[in-house]
Amino acid sequence: MPSTIIAPSVLASDFGQLAAECKRMIKGGAHWLHMDVMDGHFVPNITLGAPVLACVSKGVPGIFMDCHMMVSQPEKWVDEIADAGGSLYSFHIEATSDPVSLIHSIHARNMKAGVAISPDTPSTAISDEVGELTDMLIVMTVYPGRGGQKFIERCVPKVSELRARFPDKDIEVDGGVGPKTIDACAQAGSNVIVAGTAIFGANEPEQVIATLRSVVDA
Ligand code: DX5
Ligand code: ZN
Repeated sequence: MPSTIIAPSVLASDFGQLAAECKRMIKGGAHWLHMDVMDGHFVPNITLGAPVLACVSKGVPGIFMDCHMMVSQPEKWVDEIADAGGSLYSFHIEATSDPVSLIHSIHARNMKAGVAISPDTPSTAISDEVGELTDMLIVMTVYPGRGGQKFIERCVPKVSELRARFPDKDIEVDGGVGPKTIDACAQAGSNVIVAGTAIFGANEPEQVIATLRSVVDA
């Protein structure tokens, strides 16, 4: 299985101190930072976009930005996110009719590509072709749109289904993940762990990061 990666979701951070918050997480043992981009259309909320990501990438040299694009037209933002320093561009399979071309255009801009599925989307919505082409598969364990929601247990079997089909790919879980829900995610085969509230809401985030990592590594 690919190596364990812990990616705190900055949605739960103090946006007024975003670069400092990212540095604090990296110092605390995080590998990636998960950046939730919302457009007010694919999901009801608006969060941050390319101009903010560009500031973070400038302020935190070497940062790996895992950009989760909860947007209606994911084709539209590939160049802007690449120019802003995005490292990985994840789009929702529900938001595009041509995932293969989109993955090629993401790779052409030297970013990794990720494909996300919302709670009501079956794992079979990711075709073999798309799964093989992409670098990461994301199983949403909450409805996309906001942080701090309750983990949806019934999404976990989709992680196992995707792990069986794609043994060498990164598989990310996103939403409501923390020390109480990590066991199920790890056993199902996810290796990239997003956690917002559980990490930023803790008194000692580095301990939460270490706990999550040790469960997945076990
Ligand atoms: C939900 C986002 C998630 C979320 C994670 O729309 O994609 O990344 O912010 O935050 P927690 O861990 O608080 O559920
Ligand atoms: Zn996310």
